[in-house]
Amino acid sequence: MASKEKNMEALRAFFWPQTIAIVGASSDPRKPGGRVVQLLKEFSFPGEIIPINPGRREIQGLPCYPSLEEVKERVDLVVVSVPAAQVPGVVKQCAALGLKRLVIISGGFGELGREGRLLQDRLRQLVLEHDLTVLGPNCVGFINTLQPATPSFVLYVEGERLRSGSAAFIAQSGALGMLAVFLASREKMGFAYVISTGNEVDLDFASMISFLSREPRVKAIGGYLEGVNDGDALRRAFREAAAARKPVLILKAGSSSEAAEAIRSHTGAMAGSSEAYRAVFKEEGVLSASTLTELLSMFKAFQPGRLPQGNRVAVYSLSGGMGILTTELCPEYGLEMASFHPATVEQLQRLMPSIATVRNPLDATAAVALNLEDIRRSIELVLEDPGVDIFIFVTPFWRVFGTAASRMLVEVARHTEKPFLVIWPAATKEVKNELYENGVPLYDEIREAVFAAGALWEYARFQKHREVPDPVGPPPVPASVSASARNRLRECRGRLSEVAAKELLRLYGIDTPRGAVVQELREAVEAARQIGYPIVLKAVSPLLAHKTEAGAVFLEIKGDEELRRAWEQMEHNLREKVPDLVPEGFLVEEMVPGGSELVVGIKIDPVFGPLLMLGAGGILVELIKDISLRPAPVSPAQVLEMLGELKTGALWRGYRGRSGLDLDSLAEAVARFSVMGSDLREEVRELEINPLLPSPDGRAVAADALILLK
Ligand code: COA
Repeated sequence: MASKEKNMEALRAFFWPQTIAIVGASSDPRKPGGRVVQLLKEFSFPGEIIPINPGRREIQGLPCYPSLEEVKERVDLVVVSVPAAQVPGVVKQCAALGLKRLVIISGGFGELGREGRLLQDRLRQLVLEHDLTVLGPNCVGFINTLQPATPSFVLYVEGERLRSGSAAFIAQSGALGMLAVFLASREKMGFAYVISTGNEVDLDFASMISFLSREPRVKAIGGYLEGVNDGDALRRAFREAAAARKPVLILKAGSSSEAAEAIRSHTGAMAGSSEAYRAVFKEEGVLSASTLTELLSMFKAFQPGRLPQGNRVAVYSLSGGMGILTTELCPEYGLEMASFHPATVEQLQRLMPSIATVRNPLDATAAVALNLEDIRRSIELVLEDPGVDIFIFVTPFWRVFGTAASRMLVEVARHTEKPFLVIWPAATKEVKNELYENGVPLYDEIREAVFAAGALWEYARFQKHREVPDPVGPPPVPASVSASARNRLRECRGRLSEVAAKELLRLYGIDTPRGAVVQELREAVEAARQIGYPIVLKAVSPLLAHKTEAGAVFLEIKGDEELRRAWEQMEHNLREKVPDLVPEGFLVEEMVPGGSELVVGIKIDPVFGPLLMLGAGGILVELIKDISLRPAPVSPAQVLEMLGELKTGALWRGYRGRSGLDLDSLAEAVARFSVMGSDLREEVRELEINPLLPSPDGRAVAADALILLK
C-alpha cells in the first residue's frame, strides 16, 4: 500500500533523476549492483553516476566513494543493491543525509517468510518515519527512456538503441516487464517507462497507474499484475486513467489456487478472487490479456492513438482463406462485419472489374496483378465508407511490389482516422520494419489482430459509456435501514433462517412471497386460506442448511387436506433426517408460479469487497455457469447490462411473455440487493436469492434467501 499520497512533482523527480548513486556498486557486471552501473552507462544516462563501495576507488571507469557521506554532489536517487540485512542501515543513512528517493533492488524481504516480513515491516516504518519515496524492495528497478535513465539491473533490447514510445508498463515481476521491453524492441516498439514495483513497501501498482495517468507523454498503460491489498485504491487509479483517456491493459496472474499461493510467496499480495478482478476490470474499462503476446498486441493497436467510432470491420484480403478466417473470428471479439454502402460497391466494381462480387471480406486476390495504385484506391474507397469503423488488411506473402507495398499501406494508414491493422505473416524484413517504424500495427497471427481490434472497440465503447454517466445510480436506502439491518445482525452468528433473511430483504424494499410463520397445523390452515392456495410449506431454522434434502419443503399445496398430509409428512421427515433439530416454526407462503429463474448472490471479496453475481438459475446454474459479475452496489441500468451479458440474456430481455419478469422491477430488486450487500459487508460473508422469480403480475420476488454471517 502506498504509504502516503505522492504528488506529481515528487514522482517526476523520482523518475527523472539527474544524479544516481548506487550503493553496492560493483566492478563485476554479473552482480546486480555492477549491472546497474553498466546499464546506466550503456544506455547513455545523461546525468552523473556515483558508485558507492567501501572496497573500491574506481568502478567501471568511474570514481567510487566509500560511502554516501563522502559524496559532495547532490544525489537525486539512490539505488540500493546490498544484501537485505544491510538495507535498513543504508536507508537510515540516506534519511540522515536527506536522500529521500530510493530504488531498493535487494531481495530477502516479505517474499521470504517471517524474518523477511519483519525486515520489510522495519523498512516500511523507515519510509513513513522519514517520508521517503521507495521503489521495491525485491525489484528490478525502472527505466525511463525519455530521459533516458535506466536504474535497473535487467534490460535487453534487440538492436543498438533503447527505443522510446508512448506506452508504459508496470510490472509486479520485474523480469516480465523487461521481457516486454525486449519483445517490443523486436517490433521496433518502445516504452516511455517500465517500472518494476517488487514488494511495494511504498510505491505500488495503483500509485504508478495514477502517476502514469498524469504523465502527458504516456498514452497507454500496461501492467503485469499479481495482486493488490487495497482494491479501492486500485479502482481509483483505474478511474484516473479512464478520465485521462489512457487505456489500461493488464495481464493478471493468479486464476488457479496454485498460482494464487505462488503469488503470496512472490510479492506477498493478498489474493482476491480472479472473478473479482475480472468484474472490476470490466467495470473500470480495463482490458485484459491472458498472455504477454496478447498484451503486446493491444499495445500495438493502441499505439496510433485512434479509437473506432463503432464495431464494424472491413476485411480487405489478398487471400481468400485468410480473409475468411479473419471474418470468422470477428464476432468472438465483439466485432461485426461492415456492409458496404452501395456507392462504395459501385466504385469498387468499376475500379476492379476482376472482382465478381464486392462483399466484405473483400477478396481482392484476382486484382493483385493490377497496379499498386488501383489497390491503394480500392483500400481508400473502403476506408471512406461511412459504414466502416475498423480496417483490417490481410495477406500471406504479396512480395511483387517489395517495399512499395508497405509504403503504400503506411500512407493510406496515415491518411485515415480509422484504426488500420495489417496481418502479413510472410512479409519481408524490410516490409516489416517499414510498418513497425511507422507505427502501423502489424501482426503475424490473425487471432492476435482481431483480438486487438476487439480491444480497441471495447475501450472506445467504454469511453462512450463513461461520458454519459448513469443518472440514477444505485437505489438510495435511508441510513436508518442500514443501521437497523446491522443492529439485527449484531446478535446473530452463522446463518440466518430463511424467515430472518427475508425480513432483511423486505427492509431493503425487495419483495418476498406473502407468508406467515405458524407453530401448529390449525394455524397453518388458517394462514393458507388467507394467503390463498396453492401454498408452500417450509420448516424454519437457521440450522437447516439443506431444506430439500431434509424433506422440509413442500411446494404447490392445493388445499386443506393436502396441507394436512404435507404437515404430517414433514414432521416425520424432520424426525427421521434431522432428529436434533427444533424448528422455530413453519412458514406458510404464497406459491410463486415460477418459470424462468434467476439467481442473485453477493460475496465479500477480501480485496474488492462486495461482488454482485447475477446468473441463470435452476439447472442452468450448474450446467452452463451463466453468470455476470460486478462490484456492488450497482444501479438498475447496470443490472440490465449484466442481464445482457448472460448467455441466456435473450430469455430475460424483451421477452416478458416468456420469462414473465418485469424488467424494471427485476433491475430495481437486484440493485437494492446489491446495496444491501454493500451496506452489510462488515457483517456478512455471503448473501443469495435463489431463485428470484416473477410474481403473477411480473414483479421480481425473492422465493428463497440465504444469508451467511462472518
Ligand atoms: N555499501 C556499499 N557497498 C557495499 C555495502 C555497503 N553497505 N555492502 C556491501 N557492499 C559491496 C560489496 O562489497 C560488493 O562489492 P564487490 O563486488 O566489490 O565485492 C557489492 O557491494 C555487492 O555486494 P555483495 O555482498 O557482493 O552482494 P551481491 O551483489 O552478490 O548481492 C543483492 C546483493 C542485493 C543483489 C542480493 O543480495 C539480492 O538481493 N539479490 C536479489 C535481487 C533480486 O532478485 N531482486 C528482485 C528482482 S525481481
